Amino acid sequence: MKDIIIAIDGPAGSGKSTTARLVAQKLGYIYIDTGAMYRAITLAFLKSGLEFNEKNICKLIEKITISLNYTPQGQITLLNGEDVTEAIRTNEVTNLVSPVSAIHCVRNKMVSQQQMMGKNGGVVMDGRDIGTVVFPNAQLKIFLIASIETRAKRRQLELLQKGVNLTYDQIKKQIIERDIYDSTREISPLKKADDAIEIDTTNLTIQEQTNLIISLAQKKILEINNE
Ligand code: CDP
Repeated sequence: MKDIIIAIDGPAGSGKSTTARLVAQKLGYIYIDTGAMYRAITLAFLKSGLEFNEKNICKLIEKITISLNYTPQGQITLLNGEDVTEAIRTNEVTNLVSPVSAIHCVRNKMVSQQQMMGKNGGVVMDGRDIGTVVFPNAQLKIFLIASIETRAKRRQLELLQKGVNLTYDQIKKQIIERDIYDSTREISPLKKADDAIEIDTTNLTIQEQTNLIISLAQKKILEINNE
């Protein structure tokens, strides 16, 4: 059986990570959350106490290692071997991750690492530029969207479950700012690949959107293995 690469892109709160994880579980594929890698660099930068500029960040990323480990409980993010899975989800990291991700050297390093991680297929990779830059030849590309109101509500619930109490308006503002940053940056902006299938998840449950992508993936896997 030949395994495929599934790219899932979209803005914050569109349901990428939950869906990608469940799709990977069902297919027996590895789920790769590329946002966690950009978050880990942002955390390393915050810990360094350095002034925010391109030169400092490019120097810093030469000295750090970011890796992802896969356990039955999910993806673990390691920064210099230390488990930072929880630490990369703070509001401080979220507020700075988009500017850090827009820097050339950061993208070059992360994109090549992601290409290595997915080169043998059998992966569901989620992010902003997977279908456009990391794997433009991915056999299945999904672009998830949802209304800003739905995305902000989803994120608020997710944060509340982690004990983070931000207002709906604060979250909505943060998401809008990140959307603008991510989709207008010079390199690898967030945008739908021409051959991606767009799914609006505003009125879909996680189960519905997961089932939809699983059936698209199964069709694609059959097609490729019958070629
Ligand atoms: O989960 P959420 O949608 O909040 O974001 P994430 O997937 O953890 O990604 C955090 C940030 O990393 C995004 O807002 C982007 O700025 C950046 N990112 C990126 O530039 N390219 C990717 N492939 C993945 C994330």
